[in-house]
Amino acid sequence: MDTKQTKKPFFYDVTLRDGNQALRKPWDLAQKEIVFRQLLKLGVQGVEVGFAGASQMDFKACRHLAKIAAEVAPRTVVSSLARAVDHDIEEAARSVKDAPCPRVHTFIALSPFTMENVLRKTPEEVRAKAIHAVSLAKEMLGPQGSVEFSAEHFGDCMDNLDFVIDVFRDVIAAGADTINLPNTVERYRPRLFVDMVSKVVEAVGDKATIAVHTHNDLGMATATTVESYFAGAAQMEVALNGLGERAGNTNFYEVAVALHNCGVETGLNLGEIYETALMVSELSGVSIYAKAPLIGAEAVVHRSGIHQDGASKTKNMKKGAYRPIDFSLIGRDDNDVLGFTSQSGRAAVAEIVNSCGYPISLSEASELQPVLKAISEREGELDAARVLEVFKDRFVNYTTRLCFISVNGLRDEQRFVFTYKVGDEKRERSISAEGPIEACTRLMKEEGFDVELVSYRQGVVGEGDSLWNGRALSEIVFRNGEKTVTGRGVHNDTLVANMKAVFGAVNMLFFRE
Ligand code: KIV
Ligand code: ZN
Repeated sequence: MDTKQTKKPFFYDVTLRDGNQALRKPWDLAQKEIVFRQLLKLGVQGVEVGFAGASQMDFKACRHLAKIAAEVAPRTVVSSLARAVDHDIEEAARSVKDAPCPRVHTFIALSPFTMENVLRKTPEEVRAKAIHAVSLAKEMLGPQGSVEFSAEHFGDCMDNLDFVIDVFRDVIAAGADTINLPNTVERYRPRLFVDMVSKVVEAVGDKATIAVHTHNDLGMATATTVESYFAGAAQMEVALNGLGERAGNTNFYEVAVALHNCGVETGLNLGEIYETALMVSELSGVSIYAKAPLIGAEAVVHRSGIHQDGASKTKNMKKGAYRPIDFSLIGRDDNDVLGFTSQSGRAAVAEIVNSCGYPISLSEASELQPVLKAISEREGELDAARVLEVFKDRFVNYTTRLCFISVNGLRDEQRFVFTYKVGDEKRERSISAEGPIEACTRLMKEEGFDVELVSYRQGVVGEGDSLWNGRALSEIVFRNGEKTVTGRGVHNDTLVANMKAVFGAVNMLFFRE
């Protein structure tokens, strides 16, 4: 693996600060405690618990969580954010001082654009503020505390990187233990950011821990953070469920699992991830997008025939053909879910029916697939219960079965010769009629099945030339008293499709348990 990284990753979670500040209703102390305890269960190495200088509520929450850490998490870094302003730094230091590993995380923007237009200060004035902030934080915390310095908008610092690295040297000399490189707004390419990270690692990586803190404005935060790790940044600043300002902070779970997949020992309890995600969604009121990697409802679902075939052939293997992980790794028990749609194949039919506890042969699955496909073209995705219902109609629920064998239409004489079975008895009968549906309906009446033809429809399954597409689909609705059923038949030969539909409908009407 091409990596400059020799250190283990240090997961530093910012949900309780960056995530919380972006919530419609920021968490109260009790809610913060629930999330904090869950972070400890996950095994994070550091937690930014709040922004003590911002409000009394946040100050109290920071103090409270620092005390909990003193009881149950002696090695976890507990940090409060602070602008490079004396009041913020003093409040931050006071709020976390009871934690066994307290930290003040102070920041100021170093990008030319922000220094000029937001701070309205010269670079040298900003440098002086940064050095003062770090010295004050170090002095307030004493030797057992650590100080993190962030160059806000680091991702916009490509034109003044030499100046920024010079400031880093100064703040390290003033006592900073960790240098954080935020992509405060994700605007460009991961590669550009990672190159800048590499330059910082080369310049000061032996004197301080290098951290990355990326936001997800363009959807590349995970990639940027993961690659920054391999470029030498050891501290990953991440948030549960990717909460955070705008499109959020780097997603905790994605980074953790990506590193794990690359063979990196994360030190985390990954099995807690799924439960955490559900809990955080509930507490934050931010629902989990169905397609969210790892934790979304759809992240385990396969719908196309090719994917379902691969998934079902590899479902008991550690590596799945179409899954990134064995989802039990993150505490999910729904690996490789197959949804049946018009794109699905017989492997899905077999898997779904089997998973409901019914044995089904591959040839039965092949027979059922086009029927389900036709239903799905109208109804959309079929859940397991619906698939099972159709399966049972066809293969299970009959005490005696009326079984179609063959039909010969003698066109000139308008006669149809049917061969079929009732129970075990094979029969043959010839019926005269205008067409096959009329002939077969009459046959059923002569056999004693009082059916009334309600409607009849003929079509084609799908379009194109795939294995099942282009076959005749026949749908017939029969009524007997109050009961109405729809029989369906699919076959290359329209006549056979018709007969399958009629026989199926009669079976449903008279022999369903
Ligand atoms: O995104 C950012 O730049 C921040 C800093 C305060 C670290 O959250
Ligand atoms: Zn941020």
